[in-house]
Amino acid sequence: MAATDSSQSQTIPSHSKTAWIIGASSGIGSVLARKLAMDGHRVAVSARSAQPLQELAADSANMAGEIIAIPLDATSFEQFQQAAKQAEEILGPIDTVLHNAAIYCPMPLSRFSASEANRIFSVNIETVTNGLDVCLNTLKKKPRQIIITTSPSGYRGMPGGGAYGASKAALITLAEGFHAEMKAIGIDLRIINPGFVDTPLTSSNRFHMPFLMSAEEAAGRILKKFWKGPFEIYFPKRMILPLKIMRILPTGLLLRLSKKLTPPDGK
Ligand SMILES: NC(=O)c1ccc[n+]([C@@H]2O[C@H](COP(=O)([O-])OP(=O)(O)OC[C@H]3O[C@@H](n4cnc5c(N)ncnc54)[C@H](OP(=O)(O)O)[C@@H]3O)[C@@H](O)[C@H]2O)c1
Repeated sequence: MAATDSSQSQTIPSHSKTAWIIGASSGIGSVLARKLAMDGHRVAVSARSAQPLQELAADSANMAGEIIAIPLDATSFEQFQQAAKQAEEILGPIDTVLHNAAIYCPMPLSRFSASEANRIFSVNIETVTNGLDVCLNTLKKKPRQIIITTSPSGYRGMPGGGAYGASKAALITLAEGFHAEMKAIGIDLRIINPGFVDTPLTSSNRFHMPFLMSAEEAAGRILKKFWKGPFEIYFPKRMILPLKIMRILPTGLLLRLSKKLTPPDGK
């Protein structure tokens, strides 16, 4: 698919870095791209929906940095390879690649279906495995860092977590597993675990989402540690720290707790 440049004429600041965000047509990725460009950085944005990406690119004409739109379906390895070549051709070496694409649907057992679960696994996991391969083998210069947006729902299996929680658990384990080997070849592999953020992804949730924050707030928190920071960016602490304690609970205790949290009708 064709890339769209913002064709801006202003001079890019000397501190400018380059990033590629996959999953940037809405929500956290879109706001983050905007903030990065406003800070003077050059950002390639990808997702399936071309129009919001092109709007981001057009808006960046008034920003210190630059946004270029490279639409792609990240479940297609061939499209991902093509997009990587385009991104590098336009931006030059890419400092940071953020794998942020995902889909979600609430999935208690009563709504479990193989096709829906497989679709979630395909988008949430394959977009990242495709992206890691492309970062390692297609980009001429490997990125200095690769970040994956995971989710605290991947810390432990919880009622209602369904295939989404399982897909994010896979990504957390993948990142932990590859971290040292990536470091050895000069890549900092990191993850982001946000709490509940008000985006199209969570708009179908009918349950109370504690500490729900705006995409603006979430992107602002990510931005502070985007170019350099710990293995895991997580927020808000008052939500995530109790979940981290659950991560180390003995399984028997966790399963007893799950039983208490499961509605009797399974919905
Ligand atoms: N919102 C939350 O509460 C929350 C909490 C924890 C973690 N997260 C994670 O944060 C990340 C961003 O989510 P969000 O909340 O900002 O939701 P969002 O607005 O729905 O963003 C998801 C992005 O992924 C893209 N995408 C989906 N399928 C794709 C595909 N096959 N190829 C390329 N791009 C694809 C979407 O664009 P297209 O549909 O145009 O392709 C969209 O840009 C996700 O990884 C999500 O799991 C969110």
